[in-house]
Amino acid sequence: MKKNKIIVTGGLGYIGSHTAVELSEKFAVVIVDDLSNSTIDVLDGINKISKSKPLFEKLDLKNKDDVKSLFKRHNDAIGLIHFAAYKAVGESVENPLKYYENNLSSLIYILQEIDKLNHSFNLIFSSSCTVYGQAENLPITEEETIKKAESPYGNTKQISEEILFDYSKINSNLNIISLRYFNPIGAHQSSSIGELPIGVPQNLIPFITQTAAGIHEKITVFGDDYNTPDGTCIRDYIHVVDLAKAHIAAIENLIQSKNESNYDVYNIGTGKGTSVLEVIHSFMKSTEVKINYVIGNRRNGDIESAYADNSKAIKKLNWSPKYSIDDAITSAWKWERKIRKL
Ligand code: UD1
Repeated sequence: MKKNKIIVTGGLGYIGSHTAVELSEKFAVVIVDDLSNSTIDVLDGINKISKSKPLFEKLDLKNKDDVKSLFKRHNDAIGLIHFAAYKAVGESVENPLKYYENNLSSLIYILQEIDKLNHSFNLIFSSSCTVYGQAENLPITEEETIKKAESPYGNTKQISEEILFDYSKINSNLNIISLRYFNPIGAHQSSSIGELPIGVPQNLIPFITQTAAGIHEKITVFGDDYNTPDGTCIRDYIHVVDLAKAHIAAIENLIQSKNESNYDVYNIGTGKGTSVLEVIHSFMKSTEVKINYVIGNRRNGDIESAYADNSKAIKKLNWSPKYSIDDAITSAWKWERKIRKL
């Protein structure tokens, strides 16, 4: 039987590549990426482990004509998963226009093409728990109040969700889900794909694995004077393969279109909070590799605690996370060793 076609923008990125692999079990996948924050080698990794080879198109979604031609070539696609976006919080503060231009124009151009279709279409949007800021209530439900964004990056996620919500009201042919990711970590069990931070990593797990690989002498824990049991910040770390599978559950939910509304949001996390020190100690225990760490100052803009109430996704998307944080940490280390040839 011919498989339904799904376009994956940013499909060579960290979450996009893992999702493309999972999607290829059931769908014909078209990966779109401009290679601005990824490399073509990722495609080889995807091809090695995918059930069927995705098609790849190098394309810049900031270019309206490119988006038009993409939809013309793939007018048989039944859906699109939109990962393509810039995501470095610090850089977005330094260069807000770069973030607003890229993250918002690509979404608008995609919606303008969807608007021309005369068949039903399904869209999954990569959102983030960053939209909640420091939530009043933990675990965080989808009902939590959205506060003013801490960064232009966070603001692009909030604005994108608003654009999608407003547009969903006038296009009943379009079904949309925004997935609010908590902290994705780890790599595919094959170590054929994983996270490839460019430059010095800002995120915790890549910094830990690079420290273990000897690239950094030590890791700095950003503050131990938070109001948490060990004083360090708490996050909800989810294995990237579990997160990838949430996209398959979400697109299938849309295809079956059993929903009351054509726009919905879901938290995708494990529901479990883990502190920075717990992550560092879990890493040392599960890998038996010692890393040096020091306690430093708080990082600007960091929130104290964020972990998901994931019950809506479990109930309505029929999805649940399968991997433990130790599984995720071990897979991240295996990936780091592979790319460093250790
Ligand atoms: C960060 C972004 C978030 C974005 C997400 C994407 C910020 C403030 N938030 O989330 O908007 O959606 O990445 O992946 O940048 N830590 C250390 N030492 C380090 C690195 C991190 O102690 O060298 C701590 C941080 O203070 C934080 C925790 O580790 O408490 C997790 O940090 P990180 O991996 O950067 O994720 P978030 O800050 O949650």
